[in-house]
Amino acid sequence: MEFFDYFSQLYGDRWPALLEALKGEGRAMELRFGDNLEPYYLDEASYFAAKSLDAQPGMDVLDMCAAPGGKSLVIASMLQGQGSLQSNDRSPDRRLRLTHVLENSLPGVWLDIIKVTGYDGMKFGLHRKESYDRILLDAPCSSDRHVLNSPAHLEVWSVKRVKRLSVEQGALLASAVDALRPGGVLVYGTCALSPLENDKVVEKILKKRPAMRVVPIDDIPPGADRTEFGVHVLPDTSEGRGPIYCAKLTKF
Ligand SMILES: C[S@@+](CC[C@H](N)C(=O)[O-])C[C@H]1O[C@@H](n2cnc3c(N)ncnc32)[C@H](O)[C@@H]1O
Repeated sequence: MEFFDYFSQLYGDRWPALLEALKGEGRAMELRFGDNLEPYYLDEASYFAAKSLDAQPGMDVLDMCAAPGGKSLVIASMLQGQGSLQSNDRSPDRRLRLTHVLENSLPGVWLDIIKVTGYDGMKFGLHRKESYDRILLDAPCSSDRHVLNSPAHLEVWSVKRVKRLSVEQGALLASAVDALRPGGVLVYGTCALSPLENDKVVEKILKKRPAMRVVPIDDIPPGADRTEFGVHVLPDTSEGRGPIYCAKLTKF
């Protein structure tokens, strides 16, 4: 089944307006943390997802899939130079961009507590068991807005690929859960449109890891939808923001 048929079936009457909104301008905000520092432009829905992690100064935080770094900037601004932030990404090329973004957009005192690493996210659960107070898993996903605007990506899009990604997302989420301290908070997010990559991934982890509970997210962007486990910000109803899905979980 091709992209348009799949999402038209999934979203029904909503699809034509959503499709138009996905082709349109996004809604970016400027992040600037000092007069001599580079500004960074981030979708407002991405800002919301990072903020919902509720990182506090002094906490140990992992951004498991961090490049190019927009959400790590938001987390660094919440930590204010106190605690630790590990900004991890497996891709060497994307890690170069991540390091550039962090070094050029953050004040030195905030940068001092950040470590950029290149591990496979799947390994954290085993090697860094119950080590973090906060974990953001902004998972690799279908990136449907990007796919729509790229003929080459549209060509290779398939339901099979969506399903394969959801398996990978589930494995990364299990690793993140195991790396989280009891009492800690984890935010799982994607920029995908399909529930297979969003609520379904959360549904499976709740069955696999009974110590995990969903935490409701307050202060959601205007026009965002509440789903069974999280929040989906879609551009047709949210003034161009998104797509961003996020769900907040805690460990008992
Ligand atoms: C959606 S992007 C992250 C965007 C980033 N959080 C931001 O706000 O700028 C997903 C990232 O996951 C990375 N990635 C994919 N598989 C991974 C894995 N197994 N372990 C760690 N990083 C991975 C990709 O290289 C990509 O940079």
